[in-house]
Amino acid sequence: MSEELKDKTIILGVTGGISAYKACELSRMMMKEGAEVKVVMTENAKKFVSPLTFQYLTGNKVADDMYDLEESGISHIELADENDLIVICPATANFISKYANGIADNLLLNVLLASKSQIVLCPAMNVNMYENTLIQNNLNKLVKNGVHVVDPDSGELACGWIGKGRLANLDTIVETIKKKVQNKSLEKENILITAGATREYMDPVRFISNPSTGIVGYCMAEEFQSKGAKVNIIAGYNEVNFEKFDSYKKITTAEEMKNEISKNFNKYTVVIKAAAVGDYRFSRRVNKKIKKTDGVLKMELEENIDVLKYIGENKKENQIVVGFAAETEKIVENAKKKIISKNLDLIIANDISKKNSGFGENSNFSFLIDSSGNIDELGLISKSELARTLATKIEQMRQNS
Ligand SMILES: Cc1cc2nc3c(=O)[nH]c(=O)nc-3n(C[C@H](O)[C@H](O)[C@H](O)COP(=O)(O)O)c2cc1C
Repeated sequence: MSEELKDKTIILGVTGGISAYKACELSRMMMKEGAEVKVVMTENAKKFVSPLTFQYLTGNKVADDMYDLEESGISHIELADENDLIVICPATANFISKYANGIADNLLLNVLLASKSQIVLCPAMNVNMYENTLIQNNLNKLVKNGVHVVDPDSGELACGWIGKGRLANLDTIVETIKKKVQNKSLEKENILITAGATREYMDPVRFISNPSTGIVGYCMAEEFQSKGAKVNIIAGYNEVNFEKFDSYKKITTAEEMKNEISKNFNKYTVVIKAAAVGDYRFSRRVNKKIKKTDGVLKMELEENIDVLKYIGENKKENQIVVGFAAETEKIVENAKKKIISKNLDLIIANDISKKNSGFGENSNFSFLIDSSGNIDELGLISKSELARTLATKIEQMRQNS
């Protein structure tokens, strides 16, 4: 038995899909690891598995009725608050869509909407349902709101179809839960993560920017938060939800980003500069919309505020500064130069010429390089995996200092 789930309280939400029976085994697996498991079922889930089974397996009465306060003696708010993690297994298409749209017409949905806990969702359904754009959009919406989705497996489904939709392997689900409630090895750290894209306006309605969506910053924030760090976000335009972290300030331009960083700079123990800050801005910003005229419009660009350089120059002893580089050639060579010129401790250099790597993708082809010249070629890895690798490296640096 490993330690991660020992004495943890896990809420297991079960919805009405054919793989609901696998949730029985999941509850047993988590209990074997030392967790206390409290099951919440939807009405339709009870058509597939009896609450009695879960009650017998977990030793706890199953919660299924929003209004039955006397019988169960526990409200949806208590269920929402008093846990270390909530896992929904299996999650039906119906449940996912209701949750993604903030609907609260059963106990389990109320628990989720009222909760600030980490949430792991395990979809399971027919392949056509799973691939339906509406379901995919709803899943993406939940991911952007901080829900961890355990992708279903491919294979033969209960309905006879072959394809992606089968509930993920239970070992994978337990591993995911363990990672989420893992040790708080970075709890002493007060981390600043910058993320997203800056915008430099030419007039009130036109700007130059880049396609950053903030996913790397988001993955970093999730990982460091799960290891106990205080996570502060300063971000430009992004397509994720940073509200759940300890502080979040939205900015527009590189100059605003620098000003915001400087306010509390000395308090941060680690600075992760994942934002894509524009290198150029318009020399002149016009306050009124520039009228369209025939012919060429010439606008001059000037060098922008160098946020990373500012951070490097003001770096305090014991502060770890991590920069990023997106390159299409001479990746390592350029990154090494950047470590020195910007006074960084670590740099993550991404080869954006590679397929599935870079802006808007869920993965990067990355190298992690430190100021002593050690190079880790990480290859094509998911942005979550990249965040885990960086967190481990920072843990090691702290242990060695
Ligand atoms: C035999 C059977 C199996 C089903 N399996 C699934 C499933 O695996 N995934 C799913 O999304 N819906 C499945 N459904 C449909 C759900 O039961 C239905 O959408 C229901 O409204 C879900 O309710 P809930 O989300 O409130 O639990 C199944 C229905 C039947 C009759």
